Amino acid sequence: MLGSRGCSDHQRMDGRKRMVELVGVCETTLWTLYHRALAAGDPGSALLDPKAIEVVDAIGYPFEGRFGTGSWGLAQGMAVRARCYDREVRRFLRDHPEGTVVSLGEGLETQFWRVDNGRVRWLGVDLPEVAALRQRLLPDVARHRTLSCSATDERWMDEVDASRGVLIIAQGMLMYLPLDAVRQLVAGCAARFPGAELIFDTPPAWMAARTVRGRWRYPAGYRPPPMLWGMTAALRQKLGAVHPGIAGVRAVRVPRGRGLLCGWVLPLASVLPVARARKPLWVTCVSFGLTEHQQVESADDGSVGRRAGARSPVGAAGVTPGTGR
Ligand SMILES: C[S@@+](CC[C@H](N)C(=O)[O-])C[C@H]1O[C@@H](n2cnc3c(N)ncnc32)[C@H](O)[C@@H]1O
Repeated sequence: MLGSRGCSDHQRMDGRKRMVELVGVCETTLWTLYHRALAAGDPGSALLDPKAIEVVDAIGYPFEGRFGTGSWGLAQGMAVRARCYDREVRRFLRDHPEGTVVSLGEGLETQFWRVDNGRVRWLGVDLPEVAALRQRLLPDVARHRTLSCSATDERWMDEVDASRGVLIIAQGMLMYLPLDAVRQLVAGCAARFPGAELIFDTPPAWMAARTVRGRWRYPAGYRPPPMLWGMTAALRQKLGAVHPGIAGVRAVRVPRGRGLLCGWVLPLASVLPVARARKPLWVTCVSFGLTEHQQVESADDGSVGRRAGARSPVGAAGVTPGTGR
């Protein structure tokens, strides 16, 4: 049965494997998991992720039939993206060891096990079909919980313990939401989580357009679903204006990967002015500070600084409000 987002959740066991049929945007979680597992299985890989390999092995799904035997470049690209998020989560945990990480569109990401410091609290959010699959393959543990909820439904915000700092991440997800919904989500996070940060990645506009036109096609037939928008420097700058509680928007540096593409072409494309606009991966961090109104309220109850955690709430270090840097 197809759900409202073209997702279907047929699941049954075949021997020790859980047979999975996901379609539409839900299937993309198998696409990214598969490529991360391929990268993790590569000798000398910088992405250590035995759990991803374990999860792929536990799933009955024609990975090779759908995605081929694996594009080395795509696997390395997804590994670089995952390492970029890992670095940002570890940075957050250094300042907020007991903080809460919210992973929107978490899918079958195994990041919790890559970065767990033994104290972090983690909330994964995904659509019902994927959340149900995750619950079976990666059941909740003491500090990691999966919530079946759309990222666009503010219900997930009620589940977040914001008392020890919050980091919201959305790896490989926001490009599947209409841009207006993304603006609303960013504004909603700014209103609800002063002092927090939201980190997300997006393709460039040219790559998103290829998916919308159905031009990204695997020989076996798999076509990634339409990515509805792509990032530009101008758009990044405009995001800073969607809510007065936004203290800054900055580009997040993507780590260097392996091979010619991820080791040289991508890093060079990120710094050369001509190529920068076309680089395939844009990672953005939006910082939420206190609005003047919230600061007055906090001052009234003596809580300035406490609500914002260890960082300066407005105009946090290294962030210039509204400049996109
Ligand atoms: C490309 S996958 C990425 C999964 C995971 N973050 C990763 O990097 O492997 C996109 C994920 O976003 C989820 N997703 C799409 N729209 C969503 C929404 N409105 N709310 C929550 N999750 C959503 C999909 O179900 C899928 O799990």
